[in-house]
Amino acid sequence: MRFPKLTPLQSRFVASLVASIIILVIYYILSNPHTAYAAELDSIQNQDHNHHRLAKDSLTVSSVNRETEEEIAKLQVSDEEKIRAGVDKRQDSPTTLENNVPKNDVIKPSETNQYIVSIPTMFSEKGVQGSGFPSPMFNGSSDQVDNGSGLAQVASSENTEWQTVTNQEGSRKVYVSVTTCSQPLSNSGSPPPQLTLYLSTKSNAGPGNDNIQNITLYEGHASTIYLGTDDFYMAVVPPDVPSSLTSEWNYEVAASIDGFYHSYSDSQGLLLLDADSQSALFVSNNMTGATPDSAIYTEWMDMWPPPLTIFAHNTNDSSINGLQRSYCGLQNSAQIQPSANESGQMVVSMTNRSVGLWGSSPEPKQQFYLNTLNGSSTYHGIMAMNGNSTHSGPRVVHGGGQVWRTMTFNTKTDGNCQLLFDLTQCPNVAHAVPTSPQFLNDTPALANLYDLAAEALFQNFTYSLAQVPCNTTQTAQYSLARNCTDCANAYRNWLCAVMIPRCEDFSTSTPYTQFRNVNPLSQFVTPNPLNSFSPSGQNASIPSNILYDPTYVPMPSAPAAFPFLNQSPANALSANQSRNALAGCGTNLSASTEVPSDANGNPNCGIDFSIQPGPYNEILPCGEFCYELVRSCPASLQFACPAKGRGFERSYRDLGSDGSPLDSNGVLMCSYDGAILNPSNGTANAARRGVPVDRTGLAVGMLVSGVFVVGLGAW
Ligand SMILES: *[C@@H]1O[C@H](CO)[C@@H](O)[C@H](O)[C@H]1NC(C)=O
Ligand SMILES: *[C@@H]1O[C@H](CO)[C@@H](O)[C@H](O)[C@H]1NC(C)=O
Ligand SMILES: *[C@@H]1O[C@H](CO)[C@@H](O)[C@H](O)[C@H]1NC(C)=O
Ligand SMILES: *[C@@H]1O[C@H](CO)[C@@H](O)[C@H](O)[C@H]1NC(C)=O
Ligand SMILES: *[C@@H]1O[C@H](CO)[C@@H](O)[C@H](O)[C@H]1NC(C)=O
Ligand SMILES: *[C@@H]1O[C@H](CO)[C@@H](O)[C@H](O)[C@H]1NC(C)=O
Ligand SMILES: *[C@@H]1O[C@H](CO)[C@@H](O)[C@H](O)[C@H]1NC(C)=O
Ligand SMILES: *[C@@H]1O[C@H](CO)[C@@H](O)[C@H](O)[C@H]1NC(C)=O
Ligand SMILES: *[C@@H]1O[C@H](CO)[C@@H](O)[C@H](O)[C@H]1NC(C)=O
Ligand SMILES: *[C@@H]1O[C@H](CO)[C@@H](O)[C@H](O)[C@H]1NC(C)=O
Ligand SMILES: *[C@@H]1O[C@H](CO)[C@@H](O)[C@H](O)[C@H]1NC(C)=O
Ligand SMILES: *[C@@H]1O[C@H](CO)[C@@H](O)[C@H](O)[C@H]1NC(C)=O
Repeated sequence: MRFPKLTPLQSRFVASLVASIIILVIYYILSNPHTAYAAELDSIQNQDHNHHRLAKDSLTVSSVNRETEEEIAKLQVSDEEKIRAGVDKRQDSPTTLENNVPKNDVIKPSETNQYIVSIPTMFSEKGVQGSGFPSPMFNGSSDQVDNGSGLAQVASSENTEWQTVTNQEGSRKVYVSVTTCSQPLSNSGSPPPQLTLYLSTKSNAGPGNDNIQNITLYEGHASTIYLGTDDFYMAVVPPDVPSSLTSEWNYEVAASIDGFYHSYSDSQGLLLLDADSQSALFVSNNMTGATPDSAIYTEWMDMWPPPLTIFAHNTNDSSINGLQRSYCGLQNSAQIQPSANESGQMVVSMTNRSVGLWGSSPEPKQQFYLNTLNGSSTYHGIMAMNGNSTHSGPRVVHGGGQVWRTMTFNTKTDGNCQLLFDLTQCPNVAHAVPTSPQFLNDTPALANLYDLAAEALFQNFTYSLAQVPCNTTQTAQYSLARNCTDCANAYRNWLCAVMIPRCEDFSTSTPYTQFRNVNPLSQFVTPNPLNSFSPSGQNASIPSNILYDPTYVPMPSAPAAFPFLNQSPANALSANQSRNALAGCGTNLSASTEVPSDANGNPNCGIDFSIQPGPYNEILPCGEFCYELVRSCPASLQFACPAKGRGFERSYRDLGSDGSPLDSNGVLMCSYDGAILNPSNGTANAARRGVPVDRTGLAVGMLVSGVFVVGLGAW
């Protein structure tokens, strides 16, 4: 066969035409989407992970190099396409979880929600942890926030810790967490049963199948660590409930290679300083053990806003039960919600006020002041952190927040105790003091009263101390062991402890209290609607079985004001008046009121007159404040503590025989500034002081140089 002879131009045209057709054919073959998808769909349905294995075989955790990362990135894209295609075709195929991206889902009884954490997620790039805190939070105290290595408690149900696989080469740790954000309403009062999380290496995770783990959530939270090399599957399954229950659960599930997205810490985070009938004051644990001269200390103190927050909820309402370990659950159910609002329900700040006996720990900590609480109530208090404290939500490492163990606290009843803190003269005071309705909404006026009085007394003490040769050679000093600085410190500590009584309800059942101001004849009682013992401005309604309590233990060897009467709360000065503490007349004197005088004719502007709290209970200060004063100051100042049996017991209470201010149930026996009222076992021990003091050598005596009585004088 002969071809027509072509000119050179024609033959060039034919050649390029043929080439173009071939390119078009190749392009058509390569770009045909049907062929490509058919293969991919098959592969997902048959669990065919050939290409994954190829990629994985070259992977180890320590050698995830640049090329493999690129490879993984490519795989991730194709994987997402696969999943999208799969979801379109099969409603029940598992949802892919991405690193640090929570999935918020709803589930009804008898449904199962499936999730997959696939290799592209497991070997993806780590999330950005950020600069973090000045130092790991709570370093230096027992509580340790999860620092990204998964060593925070893995608590699913109480005391459960779990890890399926031991470390193997090339494996990755995946932190898995689930939190319940809302649960069905329960009409029985007890919370509805909890969801369960199943983990499996097969795609059918769920009840009855071949799971590697199942965890039932506890108080709305479960977390666990998966350690492996291959895809794994999770299922969230609601409990068996009557089919009549149509309600649903709303929850978040998340997987992360950086650390738990939702964290729970089963350690005591929140320490109660005190509460009154409308507010409560807390501190967190030490943020750091760093010393005040370090930059870390300053950075913590200057942190604004402070990193933590709290939720609170009246225990008489059960809607929070079942959600107490879930940040989103608390957001949906707690009555008192986080805010840093200066005028609102919650005021937070950083503080270095000492916590613990003898002002032992001036470390930075966070303070929480909760306002607008109800009186005579019990509350749950739950410390928490929103996200990582500066950021929250998807793609933030720890973005789902952290929750600490719930504590409970009581508010007071009678309305004549009021929280006082951040005083100028007594900076460590942070407890409730006697008050009356006129001060309840004017805390600065109350603080000013105590501050002025303390200042006046301290000033006179300084004059007295100036008579002592302090600035002299060591051998010429009054003591080899103590100097004037020690004396001044001991005086201030003693002054603040005895002058600013720790107030308890008159109606309290707390042990270790001492009646004060139980005076049926007092002219100075402000009507107080909350205090059942002052209904009409007179506390004449104090029942006579209290006033003349036959079980009252008299102090026969003490000098008595009314020696001819049987001692009773009504006539013993230790019970029918306050410590005569506000010697500097405060701002509360109106011109028409006659100022009462003490025995020497000096004006007496004590608590009973200036504040008029009505009857209350006092938790007596620890005797150590008096002993330490006597020990530290020169004998020429003539400080002495009242003797046992002659008044000591009405003014102070000794530490326990183990040197602790707490009894074996953790109840405060004697008051000191910075006492924690809900001590954990750890803090109770930390507050202990080893050396019991020899008290026998202390002289009986009263005081000198304008200082008021150390103990009350008459019984
Ligand atoms: C929180 O995470 C963000 C990144 O998402 C980071 O920039 C920030 O520093 C983190 N904050 C803390 C306190 O770690
Ligand atoms: C705690 O802090 C100290 C110094 O402040 C540091 O040496 C130590 O490593 C920290 N511990 C942890 C677990 O971060
Ligand atoms: C995290 O904390 C644990 C226990 O406190 C410690 O052993 C580990 O070294 C810490 N990891 C990092 C990265 O700080
Ligand atoms: C959950 O796990 C426990 C053992 O860890 C097993 O005894 C139990 O049968 C499992 N429950 C279900 C529903 O798989
Ligand atoms: C704070 O830390 C110090 C030591 O770092 C410790 O002695 C003290 O007991 C801690 N205080 C609390 C309340 O944990
Ligand atoms: C503080 O909270 C109160 C009530 O919750 C609100 O009225 C006020 O606007 C808030 N103030 C600020 C500064 O957020
Ligand atoms: C508490 O912090 C303040 C600064 O915020 C500092 O001036 C003071 O010295 C600190 N107190 C102690 C006991 O370290
Ligand atoms: C819970 O206690 C508060 C007062 O503390 C009261 O006002 C409220 O009615 C109580 N609610 C229930 C359900 O008992
Ligand atoms: C301080 O001392 C002066 C002089 O002795 C006395 O008049 C005054 O009442 C004293 N002040 C107080 C608060 O005791
Ligand atoms: C001792 O001397 C120092 C300075 O030399 C002075 O600041 C201090 O007030 C003196 N103390 C007494 C009690 O005189
Ligand atoms: C007093 O003694 C304490 C130790 O007990 C010491 O730290 C302080 O420097 C002394 N003060 C003076 C002024 O010597
Ligand atoms: C203190 O420890 C005892 C036993 O060691 C335990 O039963 C108790 O619950 C602990 N108390 C607190 C508040 O942790």
